[in-house]
Amino acid sequence: MSTLFSAFQSLPLCVVVLVGLLASTVSVPDIPENLNDILYTLGRQLMLQKLYIEESTRTTYGSGLKQTRRVMAGTRPYHHDTWQGVSVAAIHNHPNYERTMGIGEFVAILNGVEFRTRHNDYLLMMPHRTLKTYNLMEDIPFPDVPPEVLRLRTVRKQTLELRKWFKAWKDQDHSERDYRKYFKPVLCYLEGSWIHSGTAIEESFGSERHRLDAETWFDMQEMIRYTAMSGTKDQLENYSFLPTSIVRMNGSTPVIAQWNYRILCHPLKDDLPFNRFRPVPNAAHQKGFRKSGEKSRSARFELNEYDTDEFQDGQIVNQLLDRLMGEIPGKDNYPGDIRDRSFGRTAKEYTKRRGVKDLNTAYYHRIYSDTALDAMGRFFKYRGFQDPYVFMAQTTNPKVPAIEIETNCKGTGPTRKCVKSKSRWSYAVPLEIVYLTPLSKWNPHKIVYKGQETSKRGRTVSAKGRNGGLSKEKAFNGSNTKWYVITPASFYSDKASETNPADTSIKGTIGVLKKNGNRFVANCNSGHSLFLRDIPGVGSIRQRYPIFPVAYDGNPIMKEVQAVRDGLE
Ligand SMILES: *[C@@H]1O[C@H](CO)[C@@H](O)[C@H](O)[C@H]1NC(C)=O
Ligand SMILES: *[C@@H]1O[C@H](CO)[C@@H](O)[C@H](O)[C@H]1NC(C)=O
Ligand SMILES: *[C@@H]1O[C@H](CO)[C@@H](O)[C@H](O)[C@H]1NC(C)=O
Repeated sequence: MSTLFSAFQSLPLCVVVLVGLLASTVSVPDIPENLNDILYTLGRQLMLQKLYIEESTRTTYGSGLKQTRRVMAGTRPYHHDTWQGVSVAAIHNHPNYERTMGIGEFVAILNGVEFRTRHNDYLLMMPHRTLKTYNLMEDIPFPDVPPEVLRLRTVRKQTLELRKWFKAWKDQDHSERDYRKYFKPVLCYLEGSWIHSGTAIEESFGSERHRLDAETWFDMQEMIRYTAMSGTKDQLENYSFLPTSIVRMNGSTPVIAQWNYRILCHPLKDDLPFNRFRPVPNAAHQKGFRKSGEKSRSARFELNEYDTDEFQDGQIVNQLLDRLMGEIPGKDNYPGDIRDRSFGRTAKEYTKRRGVKDLNTAYYHRIYSDTALDAMGRFFKYRGFQDPYVFMAQTTNPKVPAIEIETNCKGTGPTRKCVKSKSRWSYAVPLEIVYLTPLSKWNPHKIVYKGQETSKRGRTVSAKGRNGGLSKEKAFNGSNTKWYVITPASFYSDKASETNPADTSIKGTIGVLKKNGNRFVANCNSGHSLFLRDIPGVGSIRQRYPIFPVAYDGNPIMKEVQAVRDGLE
């Protein structure tokens, strides 16, 4: 470089100028005057390319889960995992955490947008009840302990009484003990939307175990590109593949939006009896993994959409799932109250008759109604062209890019008037139902709760080598979000429960210091699991019911496969 430079220096100036001019005219073409128009056209074409891919995905798949990471090998294709494998949707247990739900990486489609999650391990949190602030969440309240238990004096008597409540819950018999007040279903769901975002990563939902391990969206895209092309894997599963897109052209400048998702939950208003669930048969999984039925970690469930004690199948429009998802707000949180007035018509609530009441579209729904019949003679409509499981909700939050159109224009020139439609949307599918139990609050030994594991106070729980051992020196000093160990071990039987390599928990019995620090008690985990450990006289009870839809269920071939399996009568 320096020799070249000195060579130039020794040449007469006019020669240098001439060479420079020649170079610029020969190798660099003129910058066209309509460069802005060209950039606009190219940007617009990229937008349309994204639309094309999404439209194609939307009509090939429904919204739902598509894949999980492969962990198995075999000689036949069905020996490998799908959305079901060793467990369903990579679900596993972190029962030592207060509100962490173990669930690994998966690929999902929401309204035609395909993305891959990080290792999720989401928290039991819900949208905010009174504020519309973007992504503001609060802890889901845990159910109370029945007063019939609390009024008993000894731990042993309380244990015996509480087991009876678990028995009533397991048998679904509320005649003597109305367990429905203390065993509460929450509906956890997967929500996604485009967002206006800066360069820094925005974590849209918390996990005590995993975070996106990148500073900027650009960094994360590069990680994904690297792992995709090299076939490698982040040891800690902390990367998501989240697409970006051009949502709009501002002149010749593209406005970029980032896809983001989160998992959170909603406490259902009413009880959901166990007989509303049925395991979904999956021949590939049964053959490849030799597991089936609700006792398996890999079971996926469907809801009895008729909401009756007897399971029924048939064509039914307004389903149980519509009622349950209808309780959940989109990005405006619970105060959300919005009307969808697209094309100058207001979306109405679906009833058997033509719509009369405006639909609050700030809540998730997939069906709405109109006062007049459409071009096909129907008064109700589904969100999406052919996507059985997509639920949509509107938001007013400017973080979510708006889409705008003008239609029904009348007049010309300055008197021209059009109907403007402008709206912002997020999309969701159900993921699982989790039953909360009085075990989250039952604390008969009055173990001191010290909050966040990482806080100063929280850290004292495992300070000085305390690991939950059964001695005064090794016992945990109280409980925190990570070591949520308030249940007396004697509540359960000694029977070992099945485990999975992704689980965390330490041995069945955990030493915890009592308040004064002079004595320790033998406790165990009080968090949530797929199955609760064996309770004497009751047995084991399933706590989580995965009910997510599968993307392939929206595909005509899967419909054919299912029909053939169900038998053609
Ligand atoms: C990634 O996940 C692991 C848990 O597997 C966690 O300990 C770690 O803090 C995470 N890294 C980041 C940067 O969040
Ligand atoms: C569009 O670009 C101009 C600059 O060219 C900028 O001032 C304006 O804020 C942008 N508008 C939007 C909505 O991004
Ligand atoms: C337990 O933790 C508390 C702080 O929360 C501390 O004051 C106390 O000394 C600890 N007890 C023991 C035995 O380490």
